[in-house]
Amino acid sequence: MTRRQYTVALIPGDGIGQEVVPSARACLDAVATKHHFGLEFDELDWGSARYRRDGAMMPEDGFDRLAASDAILLGAVGEPDIPDTVTLWGLLIPIRRTFHQYVNLRPMRLLPGVTSPVRGGENIDLAIVRENVEGEYSEVGGRMYRGRPEESAVQESVFTRVGVERVARYAGDLAARRRGFVTSATKSNGIVHTMPFWDEVVEQTLAAYPDVRREQILIDALAARLVLDPSRFDVIVASNLFGDILSDLTAALAGSIGIAPSGNINPERDHPSMFEPVHGSAPDIAGKGVANPVGQLWAASMMLEHLGEQEAAADLLGSVEAVMAKGVLTRDLGGDASTADVTAAVTEQIGG
Ligand code: NAI
Ligand code: MG
Repeated sequence: MTRRQYTVALIPGDGIGQEVVPSARACLDAVATKHHFGLEFDELDWGSARYRRDGAMMPEDGFDRLAASDAILLGAVGEPDIPDTVTLWGLLIPIRRTFHQYVNLRPMRLLPGVTSPVRGGENIDLAIVRENVEGEYSEVGGRMYRGRPEESAVQESVFTRVGVERVARYAGDLAARRRGFVTSATKSNGIVHTMPFWDEVVEQTLAAYPDVRREQILIDALAARLVLDPSRFDVIVASNLFGDILSDLTAALAGSIGIAPSGNINPERDHPSMFEPVHGSAPDIAGKGVANPVGQLWAASMMLEHLGEQEAAADLLGSVEAVMAKGVLTRDLGGDASTADVTAAVTEQIGG
């Protein structure tokens, strides 16, 4: 029998990415050994330090390098003294687009040892399916008359039938495997062209799923509903901007942004998918050894699942949960464990 072998491109990036990605690497090594497959890491020093040195976040042949991997594990990018337009648009967003990672999957449920800040939060178990390559995050638009009284800025949203249909289909398929309920985030009362179009295409697409219940809720009401009754939701399908905002909200409902994972998925598998925590580079706590690695570890578990290593994926996340249940929690969750403490506890747990 040939040994299962995967190459993972590893981009720790900036800030706490430099702390939580090594944590994930240690836990992935442990779980790969236990489940008898090989993981080779192609560690890439891309990010803000490289930008300062060479003037670019990633090298010109960067996409070829990534294309040779089976999956990408990213920490975060972003530094206070470099515009986010350079860091995010110089690495993260081009990877999502070049590799057609049009689904941003962000599952969330309450993990052991964590108290939700809201009533009913203990039963939260949902997944956000965020459209990841078009919508409000478009390059169409511009600035005119800079610095003058008549200065103006225009930014166009771009929604395509293909783009909305495929993300709605992913949400329908996912709901069919979960509790069979899709909520679509909309704002068709105020945004009168793109959002009614979104509603129509989502409705047409989900009509093909007789076993999936569906509803649409205006984004503002949906935000309130998530706080008041988070456990009623199963799958939420949302545009790029709405999905981004809702996923920080649901992470907070589940205790901390530090635990939330995210998969940038190319469902056709024509290109590698990329897994990362929802959080950013957290410059306020970077370098202190206190970052919560759970979001990165959960993202690593999603990566293993995507690679077809279901048992190892479940083992990794289960080990994280077991460690949290024992009260090994970082500061953001009210504990006093360091990143290294959590990592050591998880690798030990995996080891049996
Ligand atoms: P952030 O997620 O980095 O931090 C928000 C707050 O949550 C901070 O107080 C931080 O200390 C805390 N936090 C985040 N992750 C944590 C963890 N693992 N453990 C404990 N506490 C944690 O968001 P912020 O401050 O808005 O952005 C900082 C930088 O990161 C910016 O440059 C932003 O553009 C970038 N960013 C990058 C992302 C990416 O690479 N995918 C995503 C979001 C932001
Ligand atoms: Mg975000």
